[in-house]
Parts: sequence; structure tokens; C-alpha cells
Amino acid sequence: MGNPLKAKMTVDKQFVLAEVDPRLYSSFIEHLGRAVYGGIYEREHPLADEYGFRQDVAALIREIGVPMIRYPGGNFVSGYNWEDGVGPAASRPQRLELAWRTLESNEVGTNEFIRWARELQSDVMMAVNLGTRGVDAARNLLEYCNHPSGSYYSDLRISHGYAQPHGIKTWCLGNEMDGPWQIGQKTADEYGRLAAETAKAMRLVDPSIELVACGSSFRAMPTYAQWEAAVLDHTYEQVDYLSLHTYYGNTENDTANYLAKSLDMDLFIREIVAVCDYIKAKKRSKKTLQLSFDEWNVWFHTLETDKNITPWQTAPAQLEDPYTFEDALMVGSMLITLLNHADRVKIACLAQLVNAIAPIMTENGGSAWRQTIFYPYLHASLYGRGTVLRPAITSPLYDSKEYTDVPLLDSAVVMNAEKEELVIFALNKSLEETLLLECDVRSFQDYRVEEHIVLEHADVKAVNTAAHPNHVYPHNRGNARVTGGQLEAALPKLSWNVIRLRRA
Ligand code: AHR
Repeated sequence: MGNPLKAKMTVDKQFVLAEVDPRLYSSFIEHLGRAVYGGIYEREHPLADEYGFRQDVAALIREIGVPMIRYPGGNFVSGYNWEDGVGPAASRPQRLELAWRTLESNEVGTNEFIRWARELQSDVMMAVNLGTRGVDAARNLLEYCNHPSGSYYSDLRISHGYAQPHGIKTWCLGNEMDGPWQIGQKTADEYGRLAAETAKAMRLVDPSIELVACGSSFRAMPTYAQWEAAVLDHTYEQVDYLSLHTYYGNTENDTANYLAKSLDMDLFIREIVAVCDYIKAKKRSKKTLQLSFDEWNVWFHTLETDKNITPWQTAPAQLEDPYTFEDALMVGSMLITLLNHADRVKIACLAQLVNAIAPIMTENGGSAWRQTIFYPYLHASLYGRGTVLRPAITSPLYDSKEYTDVPLLDSAVVMNAEKEELVIFALNKSLEETLLLECDVRSFQDYRVEEHIVLEHADVKAVNTAAHPNHVYPHNRGNARVTGGQLEAALPKLSWNVIRLRRA
């Protein structure tokens, strides 16, 4: 037997990167497929509450602790008339929904969604339609949501049964406006001007809001980076965040190459930080723009088959990717990437939350279960709160089809001073070998291993289903231990690890 694979880390409480903004663990519900109807909401379901929302689904969302949920789209928002979704249910119109070519009943709208989210202790990140609409609809929706009373739209909200303003703080100025698939696609200058004017009007209604401008739909867009620069030229002083979106998939069925794709996400963030800071310099601005990674996930399983969906159905099964064990590893790697950029990424939304490319799946009238990707998301949200530290890492490297020098060890470290806890998230990307992790933690005197959670599986294609909901399930029999300020742990091949240390 040759030498075992070994990675070394040094973690020191002085090497602080940033405080984690809890909104890094946000998610997204779009009026798309069965995300709303048959997902969070199903009036006929035996577990529906008095408002028609499924309590089994709500319990799974509560388990994760989702700080903020983006709504109502996504591509959907670019054709949405928010007025269709408020007021008496019986008079709401059924519409052709053009983004996904379905029928939208408007049974659930702004008020129902916000009420539901707040019950789950989640804030709502609201998107306005800058595709078919513009300044007027956006400022009216904001007045409807946030103005206390005594104006047309605030009084309309009150007449709909919501006496208190919703106080929605974070607003997206449209969605993916560079994409040819977007209803009302715009050039960067058209969008930049519209976003700046919409922002101006919205801030006049409510100066306390935060605004997100649309970046590129993904890094491979032909207008990538120029789009961001041009949009920020118009909007820099008017907005607080620039959005990033990305989805990855194992399209070539090559696990090593697939798991290396988090390097693309890392580069994406670095490049967008550079563009933001270039515009900051150009404008001699005092303000530093932050990033909102408001759509990220794995999405590829259903891309081809969804093309065969018959149009104009209500809530068809759309984008229902059955996530495999290796997808959970990829999601873990993306979470680690986000944490390691916590100094600039303040918001991130796992897209999405229920049924459509989601960690939670349901059957209409039946059960709800956790997909494989539920677990890294759960662990990061539960244990990844506090201060991100910068670990010094030496890891063996590998080359894949598209990437070179890919570290086998992916890791992020979060210190929670209040709980006296240190958490190491670690992914071993080796397909064949256990990786021995040696980590110097001597600045955390008296800390002992509380728990070493491992997500591993013999079959990279293993999935959880309604019949076998726990086929891929984490255990806490990892062997991490600390002696004399040195942590040692064996990270099984292809595994997601959460090593929790606590002050003894
Ligand atoms: O999340 C699914 C879709 O992906 C969203 O509607 C859109 O914004 C993105 O292209």
C-alpha cells in the first residue's frame, strides 16, 4: 500500500474573513411547476392548514431554518401582474403564464405568500416585473406592501385584510434581463436606465429598502462582464447588490469533472467582485457593492425531458430534478465556495425550495421528503452561522477534463463565538481514496469534537424517493478527534463532512 492521501489545514481564530450574513442560506419559490401549487400549497391535502398550505412541507422548511425566500420569480416575474394575485380569490383571473407556458390561477399571491413565509420566520425577497412592466407597477407594489395606510395602494392592502404593512426590505429589480428567454429582454443600457429609474421611484416610496440589480444570467453569457459594467454604470449609486445566477450539472457523466465545477463558481464571484470594484473606482464611489447569488443549484436532469411537457397545464411536474448523491456533494462544494466569499456575498438563494429543482419533494395528495441535496444545505444553515475564518490549506490536486489543479479537499471554517463552537465543512472529492485531514486548531484550546457528520454512499447515482426517502442519509460516525491542538479525521472517498468542535 502506498502513502495515504493527506491534506493539511491551519485554522486560527485571528484569521477572520467575515461575519456570515444569515441570508446566505436563503432560498427561492417561483410560480413554476409544482413549487407553489402541489408544493407549499395544496388546499385538498390532508395536512393543509386553514390557509391551504401544507404543514408537512412547512415542517421541512422549518427544519432547515430558511432566513429569506425570493418570490415570485424567476422568469415568471417578467410577465406577472401582481394585481392579479391580490384581493378576493373568486375574482382573480386565470392567465396564460408565458415563461413556463402554463396556466396561472393566481390562487396564491403576494399576501398569502408573505403570511406563509413569516409564519416560518422567513423574510421575503420580492422581485418586481421589469420585463413587461416598469417603474409604475414596481412603485405601486411597494406602496401596497410597505406603506402603512392613507394612500390608494396601502388602503387597498388593508381592504384585502392585511392591516399591517408587510415591511419587505429586499427587492430584486427584475430577473435575468440579459437572457433571450426572458419576457421583455433588454440590452444592458436599456435595463440599466430602467433599473436606475425604478430604484429612484421605489426609494421615494420607501427609503429603507435594499435593491438588487440583475447581473448576467450565468458566466457563459455572451455579454458577460460587459453587461455588469454597463448596468452598474447606470445603477451603482442606486442599488445595494448585484445578482449572480448559476446552475451546474454532470452533463458529461464524469464525476471528477462535475465536482470541479465549483472552481467556475469561485472564479465567477471573483470576476464579478472585480467588475463591481472597477465601477467603484471609475465613479470614485465610497460605496462597496455586495453580491446577491440569488439563484444557485444543480439543474440538468430534466432539461431535455421538460421540453416535452404539454403547454397550458396548471402546475405540471416541471424541473423536478431527482437529485443524486453526487449532486449533494456538488451542492456542498458550492456552499463551501459561498462561505469562502462571505466578505462580498451577503445573500444567496438555493434555487429552488420545493419540487422545482428543490431539496424538498412532494407527491400531490401524498408525502413530502428530503432530496439528497437537503443535507448539505441543512448542515450549512444549522452550523454555518458566525464568523468565517480563512484556513491555510494544502491539499493534493487532480486534473479533470476541463479543470486543472483541482484540490481534493474543499473546506470552509466557521467559528461561532457565542456557542463556543468551531465547524469545519470538508468535502473529499477523491473518487477512490480516503483523505486524511490534519488540522492545526491550537488557537482553539480546550475544544473537543462534538460530532463528525458524514454524508457518503457507495452509489454516486443514489437518490431519495417517496418509497425510499432515507436512501441517502447522513450519519455521525465520523472519526475526527483532537489531541494536543491537532485535529485528525479520515474523510471517506467522495464524502461531505461536518466536523463540529465545542469548548469542553
Ligand atoms: O430557477 C429556474 C429559472 O432559472 C428561473 O426562473 C430563472 O431566473 C433561471 O433561468
